[in-house]
Amino acid sequence: MQASHPAIVETRKVAVDCCFSGCAAAFIAYHPQPTTTEDLEYRMRPLIAAAAILIAAVASQACGESDADKILALSGNSANGGTVYTAQCAVCHMADGTGNADANYPSLVEHAMHESDMDIVEVILEGEGAMPEFRSKLSDQEIADLLAYIRATFG
Ligand code: HEC
Repeated sequence: MQASHPAIVETRKVAVDCCFSGCAAAFIAYHPQPTTTEDLEYRMRPLIAAAAILIAAVASQACGESDADKILALSGNSANGGTVYTAQCAVCHMADGTGNADANYPSLVEHAMHESDMDIVEVILEGEGAMPEFRSKLSDQEIADLLAYIRATFG
């Protein structure tokens, strides 16, 4: 079992916390309580329920399949990934993947093999340190292709 990057662990933790608070809010709103029609609480209940549904909807989004899961479910094309790599990644990690130690661009040859597929996909999606995010620049399929290329070429 490979260790996940701290930022990824943090993201998952937030999703779980978020899920929990959404479910808790929904439970509190729907939990039957003795009350009369005169109660302010009784009249407020539809409002509370609506708010809870909203929170639960947002929470379930956070609990749902992450982008990384969707990308990992795709089958990557290594040849297409090579084209994307040359266009987007080689400027820093070099065409042969050895990086640029002077500029602190890590070698993928030495590092990628120690990382899980999930970690690699998350780094590409979110960026890290001096590495920009590619979520807004690449499609899910392009990132799946990149992963296939990195695995086939750099280990
Ligand atoms: C502007 C330079 C730059 C570009 C462009 C870039 N990276 Fe990076 N990359 C970095 C830096 C810097 C790090 C180290 C980040 C850190 O740990 O602080 C890194 C880390 C990584 C890592 C993790 C390696 C490790 O040792 O933890 C992977 C995998 C990676 N990059 C893949 C890619 C891919 C694939 C692309 C193209 C889509 C890409 N990078 C584009 C600079 C870049």
